[in-house]
Amino acid sequence: MNNAAMLSPAGVLERAESVLESLSLREKVGQLVQVNGDGHVSDSLRDAIARGEIGSVINEVDPATVTELQRLARSESPNGIPLLIGRDVIHGFRTIFPIPLGLAATFDEALVEEASALSAREAAIQGINWTFAPMLDVSRDPRWGRIAESLGEDTYLTTVLGSAMVRGFQRDSDHRLLACPKHFVGYGASESGRDYNTASIPELELRNVYLPPFKAALDSGAASLMPSFSDLNGRPPTGNRWLLRDVLREEWGFDGFVVSDWASVTELAVHGLAADDADAARIAVESGTNMDMASGAYAHHLERLVEEGIVAMSLVDELVLEVLKVKISLGLFDEKRTWNEVATVSEESLALAQRAAEQSIVLLKNDDAILPLAREQRVALIGPLADQPYEQLGTWVFDADMNDSISLRAALEARIGNHLGFSAGLETSRDRRHDEFEEALELARSSDVVILALGEESILSGEAHCRTDISLPGAQEALVAALADVGKPIVGVVMAGRPLVLESVTDHLDAMLFAWHPGTMAGPALVNLLYGDVNPSGKLPVTLPRSVGQIPIFYNHRNTGRPPVPESINYIDDIDPQAHQVSVGNTSFHLDVHPSPAYPFGFGLSYTSFDYSDLEVLSASRIGDGFSIAVSVTNLGERPGCEVLQLYIQDPVASATRPVRELKRFRRLSLEPGETRRVELSVGADDLAFFNGEETIVEPGVFRVWVGGDANAPLGTEFELVA
Ligand code: GLC
Repeated sequence: MNNAAMLSPAGVLERAESVLESLSLREKVGQLVQVNGDGHVSDSLRDAIARGEIGSVINEVDPATVTELQRLARSESPNGIPLLIGRDVIHGFRTIFPIPLGLAATFDEALVEEASALSAREAAIQGINWTFAPMLDVSRDPRWGRIAESLGEDTYLTTVLGSAMVRGFQRDSDHRLLACPKHFVGYGASESGRDYNTASIPELELRNVYLPPFKAALDSGAASLMPSFSDLNGRPPTGNRWLLRDVLREEWGFDGFVVSDWASVTELAVHGLAADDADAARIAVESGTNMDMASGAYAHHLERLVEEGIVAMSLVDELVLEVLKVKISLGLFDEKRTWNEVATVSEESLALAQRAAEQSIVLLKNDDAILPLAREQRVALIGPLADQPYEQLGTWVFDADMNDSISLRAALEARIGNHLGFSAGLETSRDRRHDEFEEALELARSSDVVILALGEESILSGEAHCRTDISLPGAQEALVAALADVGKPIVGVVMAGRPLVLESVTDHLDAMLFAWHPGTMAGPALVNLLYGDVNPSGKLPVTLPRSVGQIPIFYNHRNTGRPPVPESINYIDDIDPQAHQVSVGNTSFHLDVHPSPAYPFGFGLSYTSFDYSDLEVLSASRIGDGFSIAVSVTNLGERPGCEVLQLYIQDPVASATRPVRELKRFRRLSLEPGETRRVELSVGADDLAFFNGEETIVEPGVFRVWVGGDANAPLGTEFELVA
């Protein structure tokens, strides 16, 4: 279902227009006002709804309260217009899936859609009909706390999985959540990775990197959209007419509605774009922001602005009509139901959450194949994230029940019973005390293997939770070093809401699983991976840097005129005293760290290994037809495994410089031991198009293509496409 199909069947527009005609100015403004729920129907809320002065309530999840709010809107307001009930259902509602960055690591479109559909069912049971998701901010800066909510650094991966989320949220008409892609646009480029900050993004980057996921999400049927808090090129999106009218509505034909982010209308005055709240309301309306989330600016000023002729009634009518069309298309006008159930987890939901967690976890190293573990091994479970059913859920979790959440410790106890010893070593991820080290070290000495659960508490990522130092917080590095001296093999399990700099601990760990925040079923998923019931298949949706100083570091960068030649770099410790100014090489590198990341985009190991061979270009002639390739993938090991095949291209010569590599296709392949699969993939002209600063074009010429298991895939070839 695309945006047009959902919004504008013939009857929708007419019905919306007839409703609009019956509204007073005050009621029109009411449709553009969203207020925060507080778990009960206060007298002021009751009266305002009864007067038709509210169009939506956010953060109300009590079924009985929602039922009463909708009853008031339908039966006591002058025109009976139902409410939109919004909630941040970001990676689950009652059943919590991995954070979106973890879901991205599955590279599994179908799984992500199922997870969103299940989350929609759980939320809709309680009367919620709108989610502020998917978050589609391409994120290249792990200092930014909201990278946790993103689908990573790649435009194509974000596009594919973000559209899958939209389909999942909206596909079941009985349990539909209106999707709301956010934060439009370029929020992930906030300076210094500090939230709410300025994002200065050239149109080339906007159109080639940041905008495409939103266009795809709207084409997948999303009928609402949320602008970002950031200051985009001097025009915060809530008040950015070029973005919300020229691009969103004129170019893209979007006919849904735009809801501001929390208080971002009045923040236009704080940014310095508006003189005061009334002026902010005017600018936001003129720019095309339909609904005001929680700032009160529209409720307090819009009616007067129209009465004084400062804002045209026709403009308000247009914004109200867009909201009414969506409400009608969602079926809210014809829905008479009430809500009296509270969502609960189920066998099905927990199984899906576990599978998502299993597929999201990335095996970064496995020296001497110490994983999978043997059941009879005596295990010392240590670390501040080992037994944290709350922390493992990650950010943006409002409606889960901690009793549903199974920690690594609980799952290990169930699996290996008295073969398990536990000593946290640190109380929280930020704990700086060494008081409990000795107990942990003692346990390690009496065990065969250490499982060390490290990382970040959930509060250290997410909105407004940015860090300048993205190494392990607290005394975790000291704990790792102390355990390394014990001399037992150590398996690191890292739970975090962002990539971390792990250089100081990696060498002490014999194996490492990067688990993001894996959600409700973190424990069972990790145990299945640790003991080989499930073979790891997760792949990095974001680069892991060696140093915070490398940031931004991402795989699809442009080449520069002097790309680094790592083997020829004279690093800081190798430079002779009084070395001549040009003696260390003038290319694009840092003196004090290797130019490569710790782990590249797309990387992830398995308990088996895969080989790529016989890459063949099947068709490549006219640029308009794109190209297709075939490649063979073989499981070289003794164990079944799932590989995420990735196809990257480069357009080495173009009318604007292009990335050294760009992901254009991926596919999950389950292969039996020894099995070889011949895979064919096609890439269309649309995927080769790019904005060159003046226009969006596809250009003939030579193209390079690589296929493999991460962004450094070596197996490549090239071909030419003619006009
Ligand atoms: C927040 C977030 C946005 C969220 C909204 C409602 O501040 O920026 O992502 O949907 O408020 O909770």
